[in-house]
Amino acid sequence: MRMVDIIIKKRDKYELSQEEIEFFIQGYTRGEIPDYQASALAMAILLNGMTSRETKELTLAMAHSGEVLDLSKVVPIAVDKHSTGGVGDKTSLVVTPTVSACGLPVGKMSGRGLGFSGGTLDKLESIPGFRINLTTDEFIQQLKTIGIVLTGQSADLAPADGKLYGLRDVTGTVQSIPLIASSIMSKKIAAGAQAILLDVKVGLGAFMTNLEDAKQLAELMVEIGKLVGRKTVAILSDMNQPLGHAVGNSLELQEALDTLRGDGPDDFREHCLVIAGHMLALGGLAKDGAKGKKMAEDALVVGKSLARFRDLVQAQGGDVSYVDEPGKFAKAKLIREVETPRSGYLKEINACEVGKTAVLLGGGRGQKGDPIDYTVGIVIQHKVGDWLTTGDLLFTIHANDEKRLKLAKQIILEAHRWSDDPVKPIPLYYGIVD
Ligand code: URA
Repeated sequence: MRMVDIIIKKRDKYELSQEEIEFFIQGYTRGEIPDYQASALAMAILLNGMTSRETKELTLAMAHSGEVLDLSKVVPIAVDKHSTGGVGDKTSLVVTPTVSACGLPVGKMSGRGLGFSGGTLDKLESIPGFRINLTTDEFIQQLKTIGIVLTGQSADLAPADGKLYGLRDVTGTVQSIPLIASSIMSKKIAAGAQAILLDVKVGLGAFMTNLEDAKQLAELMVEIGKLVGRKTVAILSDMNQPLGHAVGNSLELQEALDTLRGDGPDDFREHCLVIAGHMLALGGLAKDGAKGKKMAEDALVVGKSLARFRDLVQAQGGDVSYVDEPGKFAKAKLIREVETPRSGYLKEINACEVGKTAVLLGGGRGQKGDPIDYTVGIVIQHKVGDWLTTGDLLFTIHANDEKRLKLAKQIILEAHRWSDDPVKPIPLYYGIVD
């Protein structure tokens, strides 16, 4: 078999066989197939799609590119969550310690930023010393002892996704239903949780910009989960405007800490509680999502979630003083507040433009492995539907160079659109697939 023939076959819109998919994944994982051929195939898949059979086989091949854990031997039940990616989506930082504090262990393999969407690992690394490269043994040990792990893909777990994820980020091949579904589900299968909650984002700042595509992605992932015997539920949630206020690695981490302390933006807090509630229901600790949400809220209010997050930081080598004294986080050199240019109702805050601007400021990558600037980002003050008066604070830019700051200010101003007539707030949810 030759890789070039597989690329040509997909380029010409034919279905790949299981053998061809496995040949690609195994060869790419072993380093025998170069990045340029993998990029060409990823682009052909993005343009021509895959059938549901191909996607399932791709997912299983990726999941089995490394070790597949069985966490049922480690903890009574482990529930995992995964978001399809959004702007300001720092949900895992609040949900995982909350669920864990309620008694449900969470061992989660997260990702780095992808395109305009941020990644949990990049956010966590803004805490000095925080290790995101745990070995499988460390993963299991930590899950057993403190009931929470947030780590990156080790070389042992779904390494094919680890390699493809970084490649897709810089080759314009993120927005593809089969590639997203296989990326997420291969990681979830390899990490061994018995139940999986998927947060499928839809809107301007999501990889799926319309509800139909988001539903299709959700249904495909739920089907794959069931195929491998994992209880899987997907929630369709809004990503037209940024979630919460902060966009940018360290800024988001600090906003998550505020939320763990009982503050934080209302939409973000609500979203975290809903997701946590569904995870608790999936894990059998709550009768349903609503009861789970109440449990999660109780854990958050009494400080159990924050305490569990501190345990996590400590266990993974992070400097815990950053959890207790958020003033310690390094700051960008230039912090500029921008005022509302006109009175009116906010009609749109284009999350995609906000996400891209965070990357432009240095918060994301242009090439595989590029270093990122943890300090930069944008704090959006308002939500669609809000009434604002000229001169109100609209957003704040955190930058480390004047030129980028100027450009960012212009883009973010244009990302805010206005109406003289009242505008309905955007709902947080569009439905559930199970
Ligand atoms: N999250 C992932 O893990 N993979 C994707 O492809 C998109 C979001």
